[in-house]
Amino acid sequence: ELKDNTIVIVFGASGDLAKKKTYPALFGLFKNGLLPKDVHIVGYARTKMDEAEYHKRTTSYLKNPDNDPEVSAKIEEFKKLSTYISGGYEDAPSFQNLNRHLESIEKNYQRKEYNRVFYLALPPSVFVPVSKHVRENCYAQSGVNRIIIEKPFGSDLDSCRDLLSNVKQSWTEDETFRIDHYLGKEMVKNLLVLRFANVALGNNWDKNSISNVQITFKEPFGTEGRGGYFDEFGIIRDVLQNHLLQVLSILTMERPVSFASEDIRNEKVKVLRAIPPIERKDTVLGQYVGANGKPGYLDDDSVPKDSVCPTFAATVLWIHNERWEGVPFVLKAGKALNEAKVEVRVQFKDVTQGIFKDISRNELVIRIQPSEAVYLKMNTKSPGLNFRAVPTEMDLTYKRRFSDLKVPEAYESLILDAFKGDHSNFVRDDELDVAWKIFTPILHWIDGKDGSRPRPSPYPYGSRGPKELDQFIASYGYRRATED
Ligand code: BG6
Repeated sequence: ELKDNTIVIVFGASGDLAKKKTYPALFGLFKNGLLPKDVHIVGYARTKMDEAEYHKRTTSYLKNPDNDPEVSAKIEEFKKLSTYISGGYEDAPSFQNLNRHLESIEKNYQRKEYNRVFYLALPPSVFVPVSKHVRENCYAQSGVNRIIIEKPFGSDLDSCRDLLSNVKQSWTEDETFRIDHYLGKEMVKNLLVLRFANVALGNNWDKNSISNVQITFKEPFGTEGRGGYFDEFGIIRDVLQNHLLQVLSILTMERPVSFASEDIRNEKVKVLRAIPPIERKDTVLGQYVGANGKPGYLDDDSVPKDSVCPTFAATVLWIHNERWEGVPFVLKAGKALNEAKVEVRVQFKDVTQGIFKDISRNELVIRIQPSEAVYLKMNTKSPGLNFRAVPTEMDLTYKRRFSDLKVPEAYESLILDAFKGDHSNFVRDDELDVAWKIFTPILHWIDGKDGSRPRPSPYPYGSRGPKELDQFIASYGYRRATED
């Protein structure tokens, strides 16, 4: 349930994440009357600025494209809820100062129960000191305290364990909300319904019917100024190990016994534990080069000129359990590709041979973005005086099916869940542990820990990826039917 009398403290209030995601999401919730009653928002960062400057910065990202007067009025109201404090991230007095500010807001509350939600929109280097100082200096004495943190959660198994154990010294698992914003996406949430509320799909969801599964993330732009951050992490840590693996776990887990968050997360962890570490031979790496007037990865000034950091990766995961033995799950992600698309493609097996030969396979496509859709490729008799099977589509495009469709922003949905204390769509500690176990060996190889670093294959900016990709996915049984 939603707690009244809540203060949200946004650390890193002048940073990129806060501006692009946290504030717009808080405003989106506020505009729709979904924030708790008597909510306050306190921005906190190192930058010294007055309230006017702070409001100017945070509201410049709130969308009001048509200059709707109602939205403008809401923005003014939103500003009134929101104050700013500057301070350091490593010293107790700064946090004591913040705490005095929080108390000055809370003393106006009617009820004597105060709730505080601490949102750390911060670089990982300060996660640990901030979480410690907040716990020691800013913890509400009556009411609920929650802390929201975002990836990167370390860069391999050991660093993740270190980070987790450090934060755990101050915060319980129950108080901690680890964001993977893919879990807030409408279509990712739909996976549970699609799989477990449809017998027609559910009963074919295994190795007997499914040949292979592709989970694909494509972005049409490069690092564009984010090269400094990106080069340290690479595409596997940026997208595969978290966002795509989360999608895979919901796609493959067993039916949870209830909607309780621990029941769902138990099933996710169970299926992830059945996946061994990725092997080198099951991997293709790529790095984009300049083409069509667009710069290559190495042309980004914030990237070292000899970087071998992959901006594209395709890896194959295998799940050793009765449902999935032998089915390859291909996870692929890349920057600077030919289009923006995130989708799951479940390719079914060939139909029994005999009367039908060489016809397309069934494919269930779940398009996460853009334009949410689920469609099933089916063979149909071509109408007329013939007996030819042609590939057709049963198409559920959300925009057409749901009139007045309003898909909430992932961050809105997650922040609301955190206010309510619902952990279902947040990442549990043991989920992270097992996710890193799957990816750490391949990452150490890419980092050069086992000898020389592998060289990614070049691919032109705006292309479909490295040239060996088609051959690679075909070798795991994927048969291209129509353009994808
Ligand atoms: C972030 C990555 O986690 O997800 C980015 O760090 C990526 O590199 C982004 O662009 C993609 O998110 P979305 O919601 O735009 O698909």
